[in-house]
Amino acid sequence: MADEQTRHDDGGGVATASDSLSVTDNRTGESYEIEISDGTVKAMDFRQIKVSEDDFGLMTYDPAFTNTASCRSAITYIDGEAGVLEHRGYPIEQLCEHSSYLEVAYLLIYGELPTREQLDEWVFEITHHTFVHENIKKFVEGFRYDAHPMGMLLATTGALSTFYPDAKNIDEDAERHMAAVRLIAKMPTLAAFAYRHNLGLPYVYPDNDLSYPGNFLSMMFKMTEVKYEPDPRLEKALDVLWILHADHEQNCSTSAVRSVGSSQVDPYSAVAAGVAALYGPLHGGANEAVLRMLDQIGTTENIPDFLEGVKKREEKLMGFGHRVYKNYDPRARVIKEHVDAVFEVTGRNPKLDIAVELEKRALDDEFFVERKLYPNVDFYSGLIYEALNLPPDLFTVMFAIPRTSGWIAQWREMQEDPETKIARPRQIYTGGREKDYVPIDQREKLTDKPSAETSLIDPGKG
Ligand code: CMC
Repeated sequence: MADEQTRHDDGGGVATASDSLSVTDNRTGESYEIEISDGTVKAMDFRQIKVSEDDFGLMTYDPAFTNTASCRSAITYIDGEAGVLEHRGYPIEQLCEHSSYLEVAYLLIYGELPTREQLDEWVFEITHHTFVHENIKKFVEGFRYDAHPMGMLLATTGALSTFYPDAKNIDEDAERHMAAVRLIAKMPTLAAFAYRHNLGLPYVYPDNDLSYPGNFLSMMFKMTEVKYEPDPRLEKALDVLWILHADHEQNCSTSAVRSVGSSQVDPYSAVAAGVAALYGPLHGGANEAVLRMLDQIGTTENIPDFLEGVKKREEKLMGFGHRVYKNYDPRARVIKEHVDAVFEVTGRNPKLDIAVELEKRALDDEFFVERKLYPNVDFYSGLIYEALNLPPDLFTVMFAIPRTSGWIAQWREMQEDPETKIARPRQIYTGGREKDYVPIDQREKLTDKPSAETSLIDPGKG
């Protein structure tokens, strides 16, 4: 669901040294000058504010980092008010029109668009690292038939670190490069294996003749044909969807990758943390909810009643609104343009008519206009995934594949940043202090600990 932005430089330029904040501590009457740079103050500058010599000093409190910049980054720029998204300064619309997902992955990770020679080499490397060790296949086989594909992806991504132990040498550029290549190359293979496992179908090995999205379609959908030939319109639509999902600055999963990576663990383990964060319904799962909502609405005639329900707060208009974008999500606009191309191949999804009419009516309605609620990236992406015949469980996996390049880019940037330290937030302690240990026979039962209903335990799950 919501990718959350922390704080971005809104283009105001570099702050001058004279920019400062005067703070008076009313507990002591003392005044302090706190420097402002890049539109921020440093939390550590508040530590000098104390009521006494032995006071720890003032801390800032910001659960969920809603107003805290956790890093400096030159990867992705978002202006939520204007509906702007740029990677390394290039507008997302131009990248979707002229570039490819692998080129954007290179741009995110290495900072500039590759030359023809660099791109060819990059694509060659990725294409030739798509196979996974046969033992990975055995892990996947070990999962229950109905295992969630994100759970399988999480486990297999983490497992990759055991196959490439040299990746722990995170200061070696060659190792960092290989980890980037392997992760981007193998993620579609892991995803397709998870999908085929759920269906009980044999796994399809990568095909080096095909493009990155074409090979994914082959690993997903190839049956008895000798050679799978992906439809170029589907390849293009998938490639665009993957460009759109490649990075979104300091969202929940990216913060997880940076936070776990700051312990200097290998990049496979750090990226597995990103997959885990994305698995949660507040991050990766809104497009599935959009489809359920469109099903519930059923026909365009029911839209006015549904919108009345939203206004009475009985419902939520899924796929609308965003923590950062207070304008049309630029990713939603691009996806909408590709919906028709996909339906030309797969046949029209009747839910599109409901979605288009719903969008039109909501954008005309004062309730949504006033609150700056516009379609976000998830409003149309689920329709495309459904048209591709993907089960809802797989939608978040379709997000994890391209976000891998963003996670790696952010992980590398963090590794190279001299300001990086192990992530270690502070807390406001709210518990008791200095209690004396109570022997077990003198304790009173104060709380009811929840216990498992043994009769409800599924024997298959142990
Ligand atoms: N339907 C109806 N009302 C809404 C919606 C919605 N989808 N979103 C926000 N509002 C209302 C909300 O009730 C509030 O109204 P009021 O001020 O009268 O109380 C106002 O708009 C502001 O909303 P908010 O909850 O303060 O906004 P937020 O920034 O905390 O939430 C959000 C952002 C994305 C969680 C929310 O808009 C939402 O739940 N949308 C639906 C779920 C969805 O589509 N998520 C996908 C996000 S994009 C994926 C990504 O970037 O990774």
